[in-house]
Formats: sequence, structure tokens, C-alpha cells
Amino acid sequence: MCASPTSIFDDWKELTEDFKELETSNRTYLEKLDEVDKVQKKCIEHVGKQKYRLGIISRNLKELKKNDHDKGQVEELENKILKRTAHLEEIEQTLPKKNGVYLRIILGNVNVSILNKEAKFKYKDDYEKFKLVLSIIGFIFAILNLCVRFRALELCNIFLLVWYYCTLTIRESILKVNGSKIKGWWRLHHFISTVAAAILLIWPDQTTWLEFRNQFMWFNVYLSVVQYLQFIYQRGQLYRLKALGERHNMDITIEGFHSWMSRGLSFLIPFLFVGYIFQLYNAYVLYQLSFYPSATWHIKVLSWMFLVLFIGNATTTTLVIPSKFKERVKQRYKLMSQVILKRKKFLETGAKEPKKTE
Ligand code: COA
Repeated sequence: MCASPTSIFDDWKELTEDFKELETSNRTYLEKLDEVDKVQKKCIEHVGKQKYRLGIISRNLKELKKNDHDKGQVEELENKILKRTAHLEEIEQTLPKKNGVYLRIILGNVNVSILNKEAKFKYKDDYEKFKLVLSIIGFIFAILNLCVRFRALELCNIFLLVWYYCTLTIRESILKVNGSKIKGWWRLHHFISTVAAAILLIWPDQTTWLEFRNQFMWFNVYLSVVQYLQFIYQRGQLYRLKALGERHNMDITIEGFHSWMSRGLSFLIPFLFVGYIFQLYNAYVLYQLSFYPSATWHIKVLSWMFLVLFIGNATTTTLVIPSKFKERVKQRYKLMSQVILKRKKFLETGAKEPKKTE
């Protein structure tokens, strides 16, 4: 059915009025964006200033400590500095950051900062899920490769590893921009793994590969199992820390969190070290294979890479564990800052405070 000419013109008029409203809203939106940009720059400047001056005060305080100044006063200021540092870290989480060199090279200067806490949490959760799904697929591939010898299947498995590790390096760089405390070694570990997988992909299909392939597939099976255990630990940690930031009685909940973490780590660590021994064994077998007459350069390079991975992983994990037990105080302050910021936000928006949960 055709609409009458008057209703068409009336419709147009009404739409034009609506468009004017849209234009006004858009203008306000652009003004606000401009305002946000200015306030963001101001906050970044302030944070920089605070950090710089905190650094100077901390250094001077160390000198004061050496000169036997009033111990109580020094300790009080040290605690205040720790609190302020934790608070500054929380504020920094709400501000955009520049991309690192790697992200600038592969993505350009696009802004990957996630300023919303919930969105940050979702991104990290998604990263953990991504690792889990890919390790399940890797597990299936490795089992299939152990059951049948089909070159295309082998190549698919190894190509998946190249893509997986490469993707991890990008995701981890984005996490780093968004305040993740991931250690440099784990990121480097994934860069080395990408190169190692690429070398495996071009390793010629001859005697030496046939000698090593089954061991490599078993290694992948084991790695998938360890990755599953890591997923349980990391996800548990992520959800517990999120819940902690929303609670009121920090002392009880932080103690609970630390006892959970200690149990989780004690369970995980033996599996990790068996994995490192497996890496060392891979390096040794590859080293032996490199003396075969048909050996190509791939074998020696891979042997070195497995050795580097073994040393880096074992050293980092050994160093990380004691530091995990030492960081309680900082964590307490960090979580308290989260609660303070949240309360302030609630008070400003006039919304209800979240329920008290012990
Ligand atoms: N890969 C990616 N991210 C990692 C990581 C890893 N191996 N280890 C730690 N992180 C992340 C954490 O999720 C956390 O992120 P966040 O700041 O965004 O919350 C950050 O780095 C700081 O973690 P940290 O407090 O140092 O350690 P943790 O308690 O989260 O984990 C271990 C400690 C030892 C369990 C963990 O580092 C690990 O599983 N390492 C072993 C990895 C390995 O060796 N793999 C090969 C097996 S053969």
C-alpha cells in the first residue's frame, strides 16, 4: 500500500527534528571527548609527577635510615609510600598507555588501552580461555599424530603451534599495555616458542625427524595437561582477586586468598618442573641427533632453544615463588585502593554501595 504524500512530508519533517537533536547530542559528545582527553592528559602528568617525587623521597628515606633516624617515623613514611604507590597503580589502570614497540610494529599506533575494569577482566579471562581451547586442540592433534603417521597432520599440528604462540605474543603485549604484571621472560618464552615451532615446520622430513617426532608429540601431550592445570590456577586467581577487590574485610579475605594460592602453587609446581626436565631431555636428544650424518642446522638450533627454555623457565619459576609470598603487604594496599576508589565512585554517582560480603 502506498503512503499519502502528506504523511511522507510529515515524516521527513519529524525525521529532520530528530536529526537536529542527534546533531546537538553529537556536539555535546565531541565536547565531552575533548574534555576527557584534556583531563586524561592532566592525570597522566600528575601521575608522572607523583611517581618522580615518590622516587626521590624513597631514595632520601633510605639515606635517613642509614643515619639511624627515628625508626618509627621512617617506617610510617615507608608504609605511606607503599600505600601511595598502590593507589597510583590503581589510578594508572584507568588511564590510556602508549603501545610498546612490538605492538607499534604489528598494529601501528592504534589505541589498545582498555579503561574499564570489567572489560579488562573480560579480556584477561578471554586470553585464559583462548589458551585452554588451543591446548585442548593441541592435545587432540598430538594424540592423533601418535596414532597415525601422516605428514599433513604433523604439519597442521606444528603450524597451529606457530599461529598459537604468535597470537599469544600479541595478546600478551595488549595485556601488558593494560597493566598486566606478566614477567618479561614469559613473553620472551612465547617469542622463542614461535621461532622454534617455525623451525620445526621447515625441518626436512627425514630420519632425524622420525627419531624425534614421537618424543615431541608426547611432550605436547604433557604440555597440554600442564596448561590445563595452569588454566585452573590462573582463572581461580583472576576470579578470587576480582571478588577480593569488592569485599570489605580485607584481612580475612586476603589471608584466605593467600592460603588458596599457596595450595594452588604447591600442586602446580611439581608438574611445571617435570615439564622443564622434559625440555632439558628434548635439548639433550636433539643434541645427540645433531651428530647424525643426515642432520641439518634445524636440529642444533632447536637443541639450543630447548636448553634456553629450560634455563629461563626453571630460573623464573624458582624466583617467582618466594616473591609471591612476600607481596602480601603491597597486595593489601592495592586491594584497599580498589575499594576506596569504588566507594568514592558510588558516593559520587549516588548509587547504592555493594553488599558487605565477608
Ligand atoms: N604466561 C602468561 N602469563 C603469566 C604467566 C605465564 N606463564 N605467568 C604469570 N602470568 C601472568 C599472571 O596471570 C599475572 O597477570 P596479571 O598481572 O594480568 O594478573 C602476571 O603474569 C603476574 O603473575 P605472577 O604473580 O608473577 O605469577 P602467578 O601467580 O600468576 O603465576 C606461576 C605463577 C609460577 C604459576 C606461573 O608463572 C606459571 O604457571 N609459570 C609456568 C609457565 C611455564 O613454565 N610454562 C611452560 C611449562 S613446561
